[in-house]
Amino acid sequence: MAAMPNVEARGQATFDCASEAAMAAETKASRATSTVRLIGLTKTFSPNIVALKGVDLDIPGGEFFTLLGPSGCGKTTLLRMIAGLEHATGGEIEIGGRAVTHIPAHKRNVNTVFQSYALFPHLSVRDNIGFGLRMCGVKKPDIQKRVIETAKFIKISELLDRKIDQLSGGQKQRIALARALINEPDVLLLDEPLSALDAGLRGELQIELLRIQRRLGMTFIFVTHDQQEAMVMSDRIAVLSDGHIQQVGGPKQLYERPDNLFVAHFMGHSNLFPIQKHDANGVYTELGRIVGRFESGTHMLIRPETVTLTPGQSEGDNHLSASVVERIYRGSVAEYRLNCGATELVAKCNNCGQDMFEVGDTVTVVVETDGLVTLNE
Ligand SMILES: Nc1ncnc2c1ncn2[C@@H]1O[C@H](COP(=O)(O)OP(=O)(O)O)[C@@H](O)[C@H]1O
Ligand SMILES: [Mg+2]
Repeated sequence: MAAMPNVEARGQATFDCASEAAMAAETKASRATSTVRLIGLTKTFSPNIVALKGVDLDIPGGEFFTLLGPSGCGKTTLLRMIAGLEHATGGEIEIGGRAVTHIPAHKRNVNTVFQSYALFPHLSVRDNIGFGLRMCGVKKPDIQKRVIETAKFIKISELLDRKIDQLSGGQKQRIALARALINEPDVLLLDEPLSALDAGLRGELQIELLRIQRRLGMTFIFVTHDQQEAMVMSDRIAVLSDGHIQQVGGPKQLYERPDNLFVAHFMGHSNLFPIQKHDANGVYTELGRIVGRFESGTHMLIRPETVTLTPGQSEGDNHLSASVVERIYRGSVAEYRLNCGATELVAKCNNCGQDMFEVGDTVTVVVETDGLVTLNE
């Protein structure tokens, strides 16, 4: 195994101005080797389960890239194919510009962190982290040194002599991460690594994982079915359904400008209304007429946080009369379910201590056309 700069030195270099030139050269080199390109990738499991139906993706080196989609859409299969743990039925995989489609897993400089941790219960934390290096024939003192450095980087030094069954879920996931990073892969693959953890710890580890990725400048390909998690962590996200990509974009783009109904629903949108008629002045939906210039589409999306509620009825373009059906208190926001026109609309208002509306109140929904998107099925 080639001698590579150790994990901690790579991480610290990001913050060390004195070694900026060296860092730039190294980052450039590591980014070039950690690009991932998928070209028309397909996978059929026998007899005829089609898991992937032609996936094209270009992931630049150093990106935090997320595969997001519902259970069974092909996320794990795609990750396993990049790792070399599953053969492609068709298409090509390139890592660092090198075709690896037919190269076995152990010859790709890629590591995977699994949801199930996949740690060896009979080994200590220290031996779990050093396992990969031992298999590669690295000398014992070198393994010890790198285990200590990696443990320090992941902040688990005090756990090194524990057994795996003496660890919490969050600690086990850190050990799994350390074990994957010690090999200094060009690309780290993470298959729902946080989904077994409780919400608080999960939120903390999301931020920590993102910081680690930023310090290392390594490509992370992260799998999740949780759109909030994907938005918090990712530079870009690919939304998958049923073996193909629906849309690729940054979190803001996917949330604010979904291409189609599937992406809109998956990003958590509820206010999606079929467009009944579209003319030069605007569109007609079950809510009534909405004035403005909109691109053509089958549906109108109104993001709940972009509407304003005012008390009583007021006249004007895009002032819709509504009544409060339900109020859900969510701490920082109040969510209102409103009867509006012939349908139901959801509005979210920042909770800044002002009086809230009551169930049964008549309100006016003021719709800002900037917050509207037309999209297709
Ligand atoms: N080894 C396998 N044999 C047969 N079918 C499989 C196998 N692995 C996955 N599949 C099928 O491929 C599809 C995608 O699965 P998977 O990649 O695990 O989805 P996800 O990770 O998004 O939940 C599913 O229909 C699943 O049942
Ligand atoms: Mg999966």
